[in-house]
Amino acid sequence: MAYSEKVIDHYENPRNVGSFEKGDDSVGTGMVGAPACGDVMKLQIKVNPSTGLIEDAKFKTYGCGSAIASSSLITEWVKGKSLDQALDIKNTQIAEELALPPVKIHCSILAEDAIKAAVQDYKAKHGEAGEAAEQKQAA
Ligand code: FES
Repeated sequence: MAYSEKVIDHYENPRNVGSFEKGDDSVGTGMVGAPACGDVMKLQIKVNPSTGLIEDAKFKTYGCGSAIASSSLITEWVKGKSLDQALDIKNTQIAEELALPPVKIHCSILAEDAIKAAVQDYKAKHGEAGEAAEQKQAA
């Protein structure tokens, strides 16, 4: 199976690899795994507290070329977006942009799940999901 040129580009020159310093509460972290292949993706967003916009994003992916390309692409896409806009990114947009074949669709789903998890983590830290957490504790 041949990778598309865009996958190869992101794979060879991944954007935004790395992670933010621990303990920075403007950062939300999402870590997800794909049961189908065992690949793991960690994706982080850094949010500007005064604008509420994502100003930076980083990832570490232990996975196939498509997973690396998907995470590289999505970290580029979320920069400058609001949390809600980031939640709107669909794996199908990633798969289309990277021309992923059907067997590699789950790699783009991993990126969508990872960004959603990162946004949830940020919201939980900043109280937006606090109510749900409190309810869970009470139960
Ligand atoms: Fe599983 Fe790509 S093969 S993430």
